[in-house]
Order: sequence, then structure tokens, then C-alpha cells
Amino acid sequence: MNILLLGSGGREDALAWRLRQSPSCDLLLAAPGNPGIGRWAECVAIDPCNGERVVELAHARGIDLVVVGPEAPLVAGVADACRAAGVAVLGPSAAAAQLEGSKGFTKDLCAANAIPTADYVRVETEAEARAALHRFPVPVVIKADGLAAGKGVTVAMNHREAEEAIAAAGDGPMVIEEFLEGEEASLFALVDGEVAVPLASAQDHKRVGEGDTGPNTGGMGAYSPAPVLTPELEARAMREIVEPTARALAEAGTPFSGVLYAGLMLTADGPKLIEYNVRFGDPECEAIMPRIEGDFAELLQAVATGRLGEMPAPALSDECTMTVVIAAEGYPGTPRKGGLIEGIEAAEREHGVTVFQAGTARHGSGALLSAGGRVLAVTARAGTFALARARAYRGVDAIDFAEGFHRRDIGWRELARQEQIGNAS
Ligand code: AMP
Ligand code: GLY
Repeated sequence: MNILLLGSGGREDALAWRLRQSPSCDLLLAAPGNPGIGRWAECVAIDPCNGERVVELAHARGIDLVVVGPEAPLVAGVADACRAAGVAVLGPSAAAAQLEGSKGFTKDLCAANAIPTADYVRVETEAEARAALHRFPVPVVIKADGLAAGKGVTVAMNHREAEEAIAAAGDGPMVIEEFLEGEEASLFALVDGEVAVPLASAQDHKRVGEGDTGPNTGGMGAYSPAPVLTPELEARAMREIVEPTARALAEAGTPFSGVLYAGLMLTADGPKLIEYNVRFGDPECEAIMPRIEGDFAELLQAVATGRLGEMPAPALSDECTMTVVIAAEGYPGTPRKGGLIEGIEAAEREHGVTVFQAGTARHGSGALLSAGGRVLAVTARAGTFALARARAYRGVDAIDFAEGFHRRDIGWRELARQEQIGNAS
């Protein structure tokens, strides 16, 4: 099978790494890719959001499967362009990608199908938002509609903070919703029309600072599985949240095909949906890929061609994985670019460690330089979280990137929980 992977981040490096190991994968192209992805794939410099160019490339190179990494090409309709041209693609149509692109769309779908989520109202203007605010106790959550990479969300501790967030957002579609209490976990499912199967769970660390403090980022680290999402809770989330969503979209004539990422709050009343994404998470994907066994390319092709129901359940190793992101100084604001990165080979000599690349670029001299906010995702696998963490940080410490920073406490919540279990037994 010839595969074209769209994207250029750490998530795509992990996907490329795993696809390259799949027995059914022959040619692997990446557009545009990055120097890390270039270890596993041939990189082609085209815009992954340009459906016409993607289809042209797919035809020219005999591509059997397009795998879309990030959300932007999906919302831009690149999967639709592929399907219209007869090219199999892993990723939903623009219509189904509204699950991520529009918070209001998702909230209305939940309301119409009794899918557990926070109570909410949709508003269109600042004045409506202010008027609606008083129907909610505090804390209250204010969300701008549209793709915002997690940055359009304010958890306001009091009404003054909420009004400031509304004023800052200005007129425009917004969702105001009830604050949910609990622990967050992410569930990744493969969905092919009405067929939905769980793939893996993970937890990430969104805040930039240790102790989960400071501004939100795309994610400073992750681990898989998320043991707090027990098999019982996972089954319940599939039954009450993911499956009815897949059914509703299929019934609406806009069936979902691809990876559905459910951000869940595990509340006292059970799992509730916080948000959907229509692709793998980054850095959750870097933590999940090393756990996947079997022919991953074949599994993704089955989703893309409507045969997921004929496949055996995805096989996952029992190992734990942990990913530590190394970001460039300035992130999540304006990151400093051009910092020299060395030591990736030394890090990968640590047992079980793989270093995925996100914002990197190869200088003409051959040097590897930073070129984005999140730069590396150092991933380790092991039999326990404690060992995975020790390995991941040995990998991190082998890397020489003076203008980078990372959190030393990735996995703290899970490690504390494991310690407690250990002490109790
Ligand atoms: P979202 O972009 O919708 O995932 O929101 C970003 C983050 O805001 C989530 O990961 C949660 O930590 C938090 N959040 C969003 N909605 C709620 C809610 N209803 N209750 C509590 N926290 C929330
Ligand atoms: N790590 C969160 C995301 O990919 O959206």
C-alpha cells in the first residue's frame, strides 16, 4: 500500500514511524513533513490544506491511502476532495469535522441525542452572552466558537472574570456552559459510519508550567493508557457518548470516518463530553503509537474504506508510555526559533526511548534547529509508569537544546495514584 500522510508535527512523526513499521506499507510520503518524519517518509513540499494539490500528488504517486494528521485540512474539506476523486482517506468530511470546528454544533448534537455534557447556551453577541451568564453558577465556562487550539476557552471563577472574558471575545458566536468537576481523560476511537471501536486512552498536560500552572498550550506531555478511565468507564463512554454521536452523524447523512477524540470529564455522575476533536491528539498520539500492535496501516485503511466492522479489535501492548515535550523558550507565546538541537541519537540509545520531532528544521549545514513552539516529544515505554517516566527523562537529559524547556512533572497525577495503590497494598 502507498500512503500519503498530511501534516508536519510530532503527531505526524509518530504516525509516520508507526506506519513505516506496518508490513502492508510500501511507499510512505509526507506533506509537508519535517526532518524527523523524513527518517521514515519521503517529504513533499505541498500545502496539506489544498485539496486539489493533495489529490494531484495522490494520483501522480499511486497513493492508496491518505492519512490526515491535523484538523485544519479536515475542516478545509481535504478529505472530501480525496473521496470525490476516488482516493481512500482517513479523516472525516468537512461536515463531520464540525464536531471539532464548531462547539455549538457539538453541543446541539449532544442535546438532541441525550449525550452527557455540560449544560449550555449558545449566544451570538456580547449582550446576549452577558444576559445568559446569570443563568449559571460560578465557576462558569466561556468558549469562543471555531478552531482555537484550546485558547478560546475561559474557566471563570466569578462573574467579573466571566464578563471580562466575554468583553475580550466581543460579538460573535460563543458557548456559555456549566463547569464540570472531575478528572479529565481522553478516549481515542476509530469510527466508520455507525461502527465505533475504542483504540486507546491517554491524559495530557495542557498548562505550560509544573504543577499544571500558567497558560494553556497544545500539550506539554502525555501518557497512555489513562488508568482512571477504567474498562467500565470506557465502555460507558463508548455507549453513552461515542456511539450515539456516530449514529447521529450517520442519520444526518454526514457519517464520520476517521479518528474521534473524546475529551471527557469523569464526573461523579459518570463520563461527560467536554469536547470532540476529529483527529489524534498531539502529544497523545506520540504516547499511543508505541502501544499499537499489528498492522496499523491495514487498520487505518479498513476505516477509510468502510471495513472497520470486519477487522479484529485493535491490539494494544500492556506497556505504559510517557511523552515529555521539549518546547522553545517563549512558547506558548512567540517561540524563539533557530536554537541548535543535538543529542537525539544519544537519547534514543536509552532503552525504550523514541524522540519524535515537531517544530524542527534542517539547516543547510546539516544542523538540526528549532522552528516552532513544541520542538521534540521524547517518548518512552516500559512496564510501569514509574519506569517509563525514568526512561523518558533520561532521554530528555541526553538532549542538548539550550533554548528549550520542558516540565519535569509529566505524569505526576498518575504516579501519585500508583504510589498510593502501592502503599495501600
Ligand atoms: P476545550 O477546548 O473545550 O477542550 O476546553 C479546554 C479546557 O478547558 C478543557 O480541557 C478543560 O480543562 C477546560 N474545560 C472546558 N470545558 C469545561 C467545563 N465545562 N467544565 C470544566 N472545565 C472545562
Ligand atoms: N493535546 C490536545 C490536542 O491535541 O488537542
